[in-house]
Amino acid sequence: MSKNRQLKLGTIIHGVGGNIAAWRHPEVLTNASVNVDFYKKQAQESEKAKFDFVFIADGLHINEKSLPHFLNRFEPLTILSALAAVTSKIGLAGTVSTSYSEPFTIARQFSSLDHISNGRAGWNVVTSPLEKTALNYSKKIEEHPDHAKRYRIASEYLKVAKGLWDSWEDDAFIRDKETGVFFDPEKLHTLNHRGEFFSVQGPLNIERSKQGRPIIFQAGSSDAGKDLAAREADAVFTGHPNLGEAQNFYRDVKDRAAAFGRNPNEILILPGIEPIVGKTEEEAEQKYQEIANLVSIEQALNYLGRFFEHHDFSQYPLDEPFPELGDLGSNSFKSGTDRIKKEAREQNLTLRQVALRSATPRTPFIGTPEKVADLIQAWFEGGAADGFILHANLPSNLTDFIENVVPILQERGLFRTEYEAETLRGNLGLPYPENRYVKKTVIQ
Ligand SMILES: Cc1cc2nc3c(=O)[nH]c(=O)nc-3n(C[C@H](O)[C@H](O)[C@H](O)COP(=O)(O)O)c2cc1C
Repeated sequence: MSKNRQLKLGTIIHGVGGNIAAWRHPEVLTNASVNVDFYKKQAQESEKAKFDFVFIADGLHINEKSLPHFLNRFEPLTILSALAAVTSKIGLAGTVSTSYSEPFTIARQFSSLDHISNGRAGWNVVTSPLEKTALNYSKKIEEHPDHAKRYRIASEYLKVAKGLWDSWEDDAFIRDKETGVFFDPEKLHTLNHRGEFFSVQGPLNIERSKQGRPIIFQAGSSDAGKDLAAREADAVFTGHPNLGEAQNFYRDVKDRAAAFGRNPNEILILPGIEPIVGKTEEEAEQKYQEIANLVSIEQALNYLGRFFEHHDFSQYPLDEPFPELGDLGSNSFKSGTDRIKKEAREQNLTLRQVALRSATPRTPFIGTPEKVADLIQAWFEGGAADGFILHANLPSNLTDFIENVVPILQERGLFRTEYEAETLRGNLGLPYPENRYVKKTVIQ
């Protein structure tokens, strides 16, 4: 492994938090999910800390049981365009579903963000686990594609998007006022894609960006998700409760990438973590409890239900073993629901325990700055992560991490003190993707 290998860090900007009750904490702005100043502040704070990117998660279906942040939030590409104007170095990654959008539109929108931000755009490709999303897109619930089909769609979708992003070779636009030549027709390419799900002629009506094309993040950890990532993604957003599982996932995705003929160093594995830092272990624990104690058991059951197609868990006794659910959940958040069932079975957990743990997960990254930095280093050097995506329920959790943990990581040479490049791709250390149509010079 290269000596200079450094951590990649991103921040999820998540308004009123990823916890169902965090919005009630005195520190949280109750309208943070639709407060552009809040987003600007977190993006600028992350940029000052030299983070690689900010990240906007998203979903396309809500009901009255959804997380407060999900009920009322910005559309990712729109808020990222606003953030592009108030930042200059940090990457801007947003979530868009391949199950409920069209590749021509999305390729164009991300390319526009890439130009607006001067080469800092990233797309988190997701497949929409919730079947009722169909009802918001002129479809019937039965028409929501199943898990396997969603990934087949995603795979073809990404091929189309990447094809469209190569519509223009890098030097296609001549723009010569004297000769009147605006572009070189030889360097304009029409995709003419016809596949199982999409029929897209092209070309795309926007040129390639400073980083060639946006960075592709992929979130989804089942076998199908890992295959999609291994074939098409530059970075993978994932989540693991412990080092061992993270190592297995890391190795698995890197091996799959190698099997598809890719350089495994060119796909970055980025687990999501929720660091809670205190001056002492007790202070950190107290900060965790402050959020956990806001969550009622009813809310925790609702939260859990969402992962299982909004299953009603209030029908079961709370203090008996987690109920047998058969296949429920396999067609939505498959990798997540498989894990919940497995942990409940292996650790003999009651429904109450499973619900409360899911609502406020106790991650290993809770403790003093040294403890959190040590763990980050152990995961990074132990073949479990190339970097991390940070979630913070409270704005002060992010600030604590930046002020107390980042300097330790920098001192240890694990994290940058200055941006290396202008583009997200450059800072992530990923190579520029050559346009597929560029004629290779044959060296005789
Ligand atoms: C870490 C992680 C983050 C995710 N983020 C989102 C998201 O922001 N929006 C979304 O609609 N789905 C999100 N998903 C869901 C996936 O896109 C996918 O639909 C779901 O996890 C089922 O696929 P899987 O079984 O391959 O994990 C996320 C999944 C994971 C594992």
